[in-house]
Amino acid sequence: MGISNLVDADHGLISRSIFVDPQIYEQEGRMVFARCWMYLCHESQIPRPGDFCTAYIGEDPVIVWRDTQGNIRAFLNICSHRGNRLCRADSGNAAALTCAYHGWTYGNDGKLKGVPYQQSAYRGEFDREQWPLPAVAQLESYKGLVFATFDPSAPPLREYLGEMTWYLDAFFDRRDGGVEVFPGVHKWVIPCNWKVAAENFCGDNYHGPWAHRSAMSTGFSARRPRPNDVGRFHLSPGNGHCVMGRQPDDTSDSPEVIAYEQDVRSEVRERLGPRIDLVRPAVGTVFPNFACVRGTANSIRVWHPRGPERTEIWSWIFVDKLAPPSVKETIRLAGLRSFGPAGTFEQDDIDNWQECTQTARGVVSRTQVLNMQMGLGQERFDQGLGAWTSEFCVSESNHRHFYRRWAKMMETTDWSELSIGAPR
Ligand code: FES
Ligand SMILES: [Fe+2]
Repeated sequence: MGISNLVDADHGLISRSIFVDPQIYEQEGRMVFARCWMYLCHESQIPRPGDFCTAYIGEDPVIVWRDTQGNIRAFLNICSHRGNRLCRADSGNAAALTCAYHGWTYGNDGKLKGVPYQQSAYRGEFDREQWPLPAVAQLESYKGLVFATFDPSAPPLREYLGEMTWYLDAFFDRRDGGVEVFPGVHKWVIPCNWKVAAENFCGDNYHGPWAHRSAMSTGFSARRPRPNDVGRFHLSPGNGHCVMGRQPDDTSDSPEVIAYEQDVRSEVRERLGPRIDLVRPAVGTVFPNFACVRGTANSIRVWHPRGPERTEIWSWIFVDKLAPPSVKETIRLAGLRSFGPAGTFEQDDIDNWQECTQTARGVVSRTQVLNMQMGLGQERFDQGLGAWTSEFCVSESNHRHFYRRWAKMMETTDWSELSIGAPR
């Protein structure tokens, strides 16, 4: 389907049909989810040989498994016999897993190790070598974040991330040892298109003072956005990745976290360089559906598509590995209270996101064009930040970068035409 008449990022105009049209959803699965580098897990979740966790790439179930030699591998979590889901657990440790239906057994290298009645029923003619778990095309880690793609022609992960690598460092590699992820994952399904959630985390500072007004006015958050605050900015480091930043000396976190930040400031600056004096990354998105938040509440989340009008959120809480236990506990509790499934901020967001999607079901409603024009023409490329920026505290510049990339991916099969590495 032609996308250029549905997404006019240069003028900030988006057709609502991209949120509900089943054909667009199907095209998105093929052109975006099956080709991009997709976040699977953090290495700290599978430290030992045999450790595994389950994940998704789009709607494809995946198992990430550390083999006996210690290499991280990822496969479709689907039995090659009749397509049963092989592993039903979120995580665990195993040298091999056996399918619940007929008992085919796969090793942690993905090879099919055992088939019941192989000699008698298959008369010795069955070749197990031909029926392993299908592996992803490429798998790489960046600072403990494990990504994979089903596209053998996708560029290497670092190239795909481009300038976003520095911003990921600012979330996940500020101190020795990086971060660790608390055990356990929160999962919940919301009746909205995944892009409505993704665009919010890409660059929607606009909704904060209004949608989260009640949470803020009850003193839940110390943050008090000011409409003329020019220190918060939106950054687009290229390839559809997006970041929302705060002032480097922002003091809207909890007292424990502010004190911790002061303690580690010189160490962080040493690792990240002088750019950290210009901006403090607070919310980030690796295109298309991996998002992270850092502040008093630290969240990693993935927006898994579950049909045009449904999204399954998977969310984890992370902390600097070297943070003192009291700071880790503060961040863990803040993560639950604000961005867990019952979190105050989460509920405010989801109530709005679901209505933004559901009202597009009407045949007339879906022909309506949405406005993403805030800050149009005000963006500039900032060499020091390595990103397109909009310095005013609210802007839809990141929305436009995100949808420009999405539209380009939807229509372009050749990676060489996708401007990888370019700042746009
Ligand atoms: S479906 Fe897995 S063994 Fe038959
Ligand atoms: Fe929000």
